[in-house]
Amino acid sequence: MNFQKVDFLISAASPKDFPKTRLPEIAFAGKSNVGKSSTINAVVGKKGFARVSSVPGKTVFVNLFRTCDKLWLVDLPGYGYAKRSQAEQERFSKLIEGYFAADRENIARLYIIVDLRHAPTMDDCQMADWARYYQVPFTVIGNKLDKLRPSQIEPAVQLARETLGLQDEVLIPFSAEKKTGRDLLITDILNAIGE
Ligand code: GTP
Ligand code: MG
Repeated sequence: MNFQKVDFLISAASPKDFPKTRLPEIAFAGKSNVGKSSTINAVVGKKGFARVSSVPGKTVFVNLFRTCDKLWLVDLPGYGYAKRSQAEQERFSKLIEGYFAADRENIARLYIIVDLRHAPTMDDCQMADWARYYQVPFTVIGNKLDKLRPSQIEPAVQLARETLGLQDEVLIPFSAEKKTGRDLLITDILNAIGE
């Protein structure tokens, strides 16, 4: 499957904009600035495809990219961005909850992206609990691996697994910047959609 073949984009500002098609969706969630858009760029092998910004909290739409006529890659807005105004925060909550409420049965896999340099946040843990509760299959991506020294990797992975209470769920050590772990991620996505 050629992930470079992206033929359609929806930028959803509210739940009514979500696609009506029944294609499987691969959703990427995580705190603001953790690298959700960069990870999608690494998957499709294109720089500057999903918008990457140095300004945290920039993605305020749910952006869906249809690839190969087979699936949607879903770039969710980041959570835990403290500088949002109350109104922005409410719009954000409505949008993300609306997405999960409207499209949950189409979500073939949820990727919860965490920053391997730090312990997962309360929001990350809530996201994982939420996925368990609603039985949305999820995989954790431990991003920014390139920022760790080799000796730090194993402890960081263990800390993330323990903090998130992972059991059978997979954690992929990853660097969107260096494309480390990309093959594992692609295999996981293909598994999720039964390819
Ligand atoms: P929002 O949409 O604002 O929530 O952010 P996001 O999660 O989409 O993050 P984005 O992909 O925009 O990346 C945020 C910043 O982190 C950018 O400056 C990226 O270049 C950087 N970044 C992302 N992934 C990596 C990585 O694996 N390693 C390093 N060193 N930097 C990364
Ligand atoms: Mg983004």
